[in-house]
Amino acid sequence: MNDDETHGADESHPISRRRYVAGAGAVATVGLAGCADDADEEFEEDDGTNGDDTGDEEPPEDVDEGDLEIVHWWTAGGEEDAYNALLDGFREEHPDIEVVDNPAPGGAGSAIDTVIQNRVLDGNPPSTFQIWPGQAMTPYTDADLLEDIGDSVWDDEMREAYLDDVVDLSRPAGDLVAVPINIHRLNNLFFNAEVLDSAGVDATDIDDPQGLLDALETIDEETDATPLAHQTQSPWSTLQLFEAVFLGQQGADDYASFVDGDVESLEDEVREALELLVEYSEHYPEDAGSISWDQGNSQLIQGDAAFLHQGDWAAGQYQGTDDFEYGEDWDMVAFPGTTGVYHSVIDSFVFPTNNPSPEATEQFLNYAGTVDAQERFNPVKGSIPPRTDVPMDEFGPFLTSQFEDFQNSTSQPPTIAHGTAVAPAIHSELEEAFANFNENLGVDQAYEAIRDAF
Ligand code: BGC
Repeated sequence: MNDDETHGADESHPISRRRYVAGAGAVATVGLAGCADDADEEFEEDDGTNGDDTGDEEPPEDVDEGDLEIVHWWTAGGEEDAYNALLDGFREEHPDIEVVDNPAPGGAGSAIDTVIQNRVLDGNPPSTFQIWPGQAMTPYTDADLLEDIGDSVWDDEMREAYLDDVVDLSRPAGDLVAVPINIHRLNNLFFNAEVLDSAGVDATDIDDPQGLLDALETIDEETDATPLAHQTQSPWSTLQLFEAVFLGQQGADDYASFVDGDVESLEDEVREALELLVEYSEHYPEDAGSISWDQGNSQLIQGDAAFLHQGDWAAGQYQGTDDFEYGEDWDMVAFPGTTGVYHSVIDSFVFPTNNPSPEATEQFLNYAGTVDAQERFNPVKGSIPPRTDVPMDEFGPFLTSQFEDFQNSTSQPPTIAHGTAVAPAIHSELEEAFANFNENLGVDQAYEAIRDAF
């Protein structure tokens, strides 16, 4: 499909002009450092607590001048299929451009930061890389390391088609520097229907995070399955579970205050969430400390686990699994207590300065912003499109239901674990806090580390 065919499909997205990402317009910046040398201190040192793997800090050997080198972390679950669907569409339109794939595997980008920071700071960036828009980009924009693509990529047609709040997230320091490609939902509680049936648990009856603990205990008593398919090898999944529990217990207003750094006045609330996490942890897999998120999800698929709290990239994995059908074998409810909330996670691509392939990069970013790209990528990825004019007929019943929930949602808070809500320095401190919490389940220590992170 080319750009001309993108017009006239506006009915597919009735809330097209609605602003939806809470606080997106108020993305804070720390001040422009101005050049890469000054930028080192803007970037957090990797403390080794959050990586599943270490990526390659050099371009692959087979990159020739003008080739499009893409660094991303979509290698797990159904992610790779979605990425390949995107590349297929790009190659159809640009058969002349050589794409060099250079993944930095690790859920939630846990290994990409070090690779990208070093390469961008060294003036040796890839053509483009995957990054969450919003706060996660501020060290790069503060150091002037991302090109303004407001004219070259964001033409009027594209600006008009995107949700306004997604456009705002793409300009954390004023200039448009990113092309978002998807909107994931984080507050999902996925489950294996057969396991819940055999325990006599009805997920739609679980009203709040405490009710989920009761359900986990019932699963534990009534079945051999692991109640909650959670991974603790890398801290991001516990950080996002904390966000979900806090949102479910306290609601979106307190969550917004928390994200703004008002932790001390919410001390009791933060401790309440942490204490419940300690109880949940009794129901994690025995191998929680050595599995990745998609291995946890495989346990659910195989009927060895009951529930999973995860972004809807997990549904991309179900989609790639034979004989595992939505509504029959697996299903999902909003994380208990968060009905009406669409806790959003967004991915984007950017144009780093000192670009090795300016023309190919511009073509890729242009393509990522089209209906065709987003119609190919999102149904496989388990996300909905940020453009408002993408026909939804190929998205299947699960994503159609997510899309309806998105349209009917009363709040769409940004996420901490996936970078839109807090600056990388805070994000990194919080990851360290939850890495320690995964180890020792110390509520006092975790509370203090969270308070100090802000
Ligand atoms: C990204 C998703 C990805 C997930 C797991 C999130 O931060 O936004 O695209 O599937 O991490 O790796």
